[in-house]
Amino acid sequence: MSSQVDLASAVGWQDEDKPVSWNQRDLLLYAVGIGAKKDDFALINDKSWAPFPTYPVVLPFKGTSQDVVNFRKLMTGGNRAPGLPHFDPNRGVHGSQSIEILKPFPAVSGPGWKIKKRIVAVSENKSGIILEQESVLVDAQGTPYAKLYSASFNLGAKATGTNFSKRIAGPPQAKPVPKDRKPDWVVCLGAGIAYVKKAEKSKL
Ligand SMILES: *[C@@H]1O[C@H](CO)[C@@H](O)[C@H](O)[C@H]1NC(C)=O
Ligand SMILES: *[C@@H]1O[C@H](CO)[C@@H](O)[C@H](O)[C@H]1NC(C)=O
Repeated sequence: MSSQVDLASAVGWQDEDKPVSWNQRDLLLYAVGIGAKKDDFALINDKSWAPFPTYPVVLPFKGTSQDVVNFRKLMTGGNRAPGLPHFDPNRGVHGSQSIEILKPFPAVSGPGWKIKKRIVAVSENKSGIILEQESVLVDAQGTPYAKLYSASFNLGAKATGTNFSKRIAGPPQAKPVPKDRKPDWVVCLGAGIAYVKKAEKSKL
């Protein structure tokens, strides 16, 4: 943490690359963890099995660990980006999460995969400070497979005490939810609901 608070200087800051790895067991556990049932064969295991496409969202937390992740320890690591004030880890909220899938990823990573992270937006208002991070999953050759965007809302955090906002990148605009018809299929993933078109269902 820098002693000089200057939110603008944190935008664009590139973190160290984070090595990541996974195997098929991790993908199956993930599928069950997000609610796959015993007859969701395409998610659990059969001839048409494929990794669930949102899996990269957990990789910035997992890294290369083969054990459970100590989330609390990860969250209390402190800010290493310049210009940010102290954030109380007890008042951090996962504000939003997006994933842009660029390429299907393999069932077993093998060595050399990593996540390249940078801060792409910082904003402040009366409620606190929001940090948005971009994490790009790349293979050993540097080919990107997925781009993740996540926002952390640090309630009560204060820098200037006024409204501030700077952004250099963000998730692509999502397609609007059609208002004139019901979804063909609805899947509940944890707390969220994904609306999926019939044609896309086979890809999940
Ligand atoms: C601050 O921004 C957040 C996120 O956009 C919003 O939910 C909140 O209402 C804002 N607070 C104020 C006081 O404008
Ligand atoms: C900050 O933005 C909020 C919401 O847009 C507005 O109500 C408030 O007056 C602004 N505060 C300052 C100090 O400009």
